[in-house]
Amino acid sequence: MAHSDDPSEPIGFHRGLTSYGDAGFSLFLRKAFIKGAGYSDAALDRPVVGIADTGSAYNPCHGNAPALIEAVRRGVLMAGGLPMTFPTVSLHESFAQPTSMFLRNLMAIDTEEMIRAQPMDAVVLIGGCDKTVPAQLMGAASAGVPAIQLVTGSMLTGGHRGERVGACTDCRRYWARFRAEEIDGAEIAAVNDQLVASVGTCSVMGTASTMACLAEALGISVPGSASPPATTADRMRVAERTGALAVRIARDRLTPDRVLTADAFENAMRVLLAIGGSTNGIVHLAAIAGRLGFAIDFDALDRMARETPVLVDLKPSGRHYMEDFHHAGGMATLLRELKPLLRLDALTITGRTLGEEVEAAGPPFAQDVVRPLDRPIHPQGGLAVLRGNLAPEGAIIKVSAADARLMEHEGRAVVFENAEDLARRIDDPALDVTADDILVLKNIGPKGAPGMPEAGYLPIPAKLARAGVKDMVRISDGRMSGTAFGTIVLHVLPEAAIGGPLAWVQSGDRIRLSVARRELSLLVDDTELERRKAERPVATPGAARGYRKLYLDSVLQADRGADFDFLVPPGVPAKIPTAR
Ligand code: FES
Repeated sequence: MAHSDDPSEPIGFHRGLTSYGDAGFSLFLRKAFIKGAGYSDAALDRPVVGIADTGSAYNPCHGNAPALIEAVRRGVLMAGGLPMTFPTVSLHESFAQPTSMFLRNLMAIDTEEMIRAQPMDAVVLIGGCDKTVPAQLMGAASAGVPAIQLVTGSMLTGGHRGERVGACTDCRRYWARFRAEEIDGAEIAAVNDQLVASVGTCSVMGTASTMACLAEALGISVPGSASPPATTADRMRVAERTGALAVRIARDRLTPDRVLTADAFENAMRVLLAIGGSTNGIVHLAAIAGRLGFAIDFDALDRMARETPVLVDLKPSGRHYMEDFHHAGGMATLLRELKPLLRLDALTITGRTLGEEVEAAGPPFAQDVVRPLDRPIHPQGGLAVLRGNLAPEGAIIKVSAADARLMEHEGRAVVFENAEDLARRIDDPALDVTADDILVLKNIGPKGAPGMPEAGYLPIPAKLARAGVKDMVRISDGRMSGTAFGTIVLHVLPEAAIGGPLAWVQSGDRIRLSVARRELSLLVDDTELERRKAERPVATPGAARGYRKLYLDSVLQADRGADFDFLVPPGVPAKIPTAR
């Protein structure tokens, strides 16, 4: 991404003039219109900081957006800039059909084009719910305008009959208990009132919290900004500082490519592993990195996972919630522990290096949320990359959320052809399934569903759930919510809808999972697989019109972040992490 140190480059309302063929007239007209809103020439001569407003009645995870915007504006004005708020697409997990991931790239395009189209010297990206932060960083990376991420922050936790609860690990836990008939309709309704105790993002280490931590690890947000809950004074002070810093990066022309470097992405991958972060984090990191000409080296990621312990004790892999992480010092506490494994020279949005920011955060103190390197929650990182004839280009398993007993397992496949087939048959009392079987769901990849929904967390069949079965090996080409848990193999590549080997699995086949050997094998010989391929060729899905057509024609596989092929720079991407 080009950045300019040219002091004669136009700033503020002088940049990006609308085409009327007469630059002087374009500026004259622009000023005339904005003066209609009461601005003076003195205000209009300041550097302009755009503020991407993703507040929406459909998005309670961004319910504090008005207060955040007020604090950002205060910071911008204090630092001598002019804040200009503008709307973009907003996405909430539970209100986007068929899945928010289907629309993430649309939000990225909207963000990129609105940053580019409107005059601004820097932009503050206010996001939070799962897909919004990746969409904003993808768009900002491509727009090339100085940008700083501000997350909305986590929700508070609630209480149910003396037990602390929060979205959405506890949503799934209680729903599983309801399905198993351990609790009744009245109790599940009572829990429903308590799971989301305030506005803000999910209170566990789900995708939103993961992306908040990754944004800080990338150096693209204010140090200490990942963890303050949405409704706290700390969150508002972070917003004010974000506004002030936005004016600084506008003046210094600190463009995203100078912050989002190979070293920054390596730091983010390290943090993803150490927090036991959401598997979605790796898809989103691949998408953001892809905009800057990088591609994740999955074998190197697996090596990193083997040497990076899980240190953060948050649900779904551990015990605590985001507000506890904040009280334990947040990212500074984690980064201090991870120092030997980090690229400390990576530049951050403050103009200082990550190492300098860790030093500036002060000394450690006693707490029980972030473990020291020599006393981890899990000795190895949260993720493992699997390969084999069922996933020749790779698959992911979140080891930290899996049942240790099932990580070396061979079983009989019980296959569902797509999400509708699963919904129709999973609870059928006649379903031929035992706890030792392996549930396989096809056609929920980027093109398959489409949009790669979070349907990879297949429910335990009702009759087994009632018998007390809590976990089974489950395999799909889809994603899973960062708040979910279980022995779940995800992102199988290539996906079934484009003819990946997953398409040819049949009920009754044997499958072997070995996390120790990083293996995912279909124990069916090649001749039989070739016969099945010839008998039932795959028809890749398409659409006649609209965004769905654009999506199906252009979406890349999960290892490239499920971005659109025309949004990544041409040429062969550079592998990250780079060799040390
Ligand atoms: Fe928005 Fe979980 S639904 S962060």
